[in-house]
Amino acid sequence: MAALPVIDPMPPVAACVLPWDGTVTNTVATIGRARSDCGDTFVVDSGEDRYLFLFSAAGLHAFYTVPETQASKGIADWKMLRRKLPDELFIGRRTLPHELFGRVAVAGYLDALEEAISLQLAELDGGCEIELFDFSRRLGHRLGLASWAGREVLRSVRFDELTAALDALDGAEAFVAPERMREVALNNKAAERRAMAQAEEILAESIGARAGPGNDLLGTIVTRWDDTAGAERMAGITRDVILVHIGSMSNLFAALGWSLVHLVQHPDVLARLRSGQDQGTDADLASRCVLESIRIGQRSIMLRTVLEPVAVDDGSQAYDVSPGATLATFLPLTNLAGAPGLDLYDPDRWRGQRPVSPAGLPAEAITTFGHGPHACPARPFSVTAIVRVIERLFGAYDLERRFSGAEPRPGQIGGVARAAAPCPVAVTPRAERRYPG
Ligand code: HEM
Repeated sequence: MAALPVIDPMPPVAACVLPWDGTVTNTVATIGRARSDCGDTFVVDSGEDRYLFLFSAAGLHAFYTVPETQASKGIADWKMLRRKLPDELFIGRRTLPHELFGRVAVAGYLDALEEAISLQLAELDGGCEIELFDFSRRLGHRLGLASWAGREVLRSVRFDELTAALDALDGAEAFVAPERMREVALNNKAAERRAMAQAEEILAESIGARAGPGNDLLGTIVTRWDDTAGAERMAGITRDVILVHIGSMSNLFAALGWSLVHLVQHPDVLARLRSGQDQGTDADLASRCVLESIRIGQRSIMLRTVLEPVAVDDGSQAYDVSPGATLATFLPLTNLAGAPGLDLYDPDRWRGQRPVSPAGLPAEAITTFGHGPHACPARPFSVTAIVRVIERLFGAYDLERRFSGAEPRPGQIGGVARAAAPCPVAVTPRAERRYPG
């Protein structure tokens, strides 16, 4: 094994590994224990990698501001995702998710989002029982695919087959179920390759039926492949769509799931939403609910692969970190534990897009969509989509809770939490529908 990258001076080394390299049943407890034992800056040597974890205010600031050329998020993410996704999905991509979002672009997605929500809500008429994360996952597929695979794919007779293939491919499993990655490697990603081929085939059918490129987002992706033809062109287009979609499914549906769970658990907040107070001082209550649910649900490990020697100052000590090391921080240990009261659901802790309670927290102590140069480009899109689902679902239906507690999956290390156990609710149409749609 190659020598591990040098960190000078060397911080304390925690007595644990990360879940890709050994048994870790509860990631928050394991890394939390390492922090209690070692302090806010410590090293984890795991598998072939050396991680420098940073949790102090200055350490977090250094983490979020380090330039990509010195310590790369792109490479760190790729190293994580390639445990699950076939290498060929990353090769030759011409559409990066960054290019598809922004405040101006959100307006263009609204019709597609409304159509996706309408189709999903139509399945609830007459009343039924649903599991909130199954519901959110199916809706997440619809919201995303309507936005970048062309709205017509929502009505494809093979839509369920497509989402099943995308669920089998699911790059997020690399951090949602890290313990499975050894099995994925042993099978040489055979199931993932089959799923990718099937998703490509179904998308190609839908895209091939278009008369022209179209003036939606799929049209933008299609025109990027104008200089190619035949199988090369269709593989390029469909893989661009698949990679954007797989990226979106890392967080969006789970954030939606927790937003619904928390509103079902907090009828007082739901009553405020419904009572129309959102016309006055509560105008942005729904989006504050979304931010609060994401804060609580965040299980992201944030990673940067060091490419050039970099000095990282944690406020007490400057460390010289050599190429090959990985800078890291872990959101549940800041979002939920940085001050008293952060374990409680309170959408009123937000003023607009910023947490203001507890007062005096450092800027990077609470993270929903990230900070600095790598902050999420899909934030306006994601918040808009979830707010519209909340408005339309709770406006038209009552959801009766049929679960007692809702806990995150303990082995997860990345993205927004998946639930450890099902969260069923009984759905009945409301006599009085307050929200449009
Ligand atoms: C509620 C849903 C979402 C949450 C909570 C979320 C969260 C985040 C966070 C925390 C980061 C920063 C990560 C870091 O600094 O290492 C990030 C970056 C990113 N997100 Fe999201 N995200 C969401 C939805 C989406 C969607 C729908 C997409 C579209 C495919 C997306 C694409 C990206 C991309 C491309 C980046 C990297 C930006 C860069 O490196 O410059 N996200 N997201």
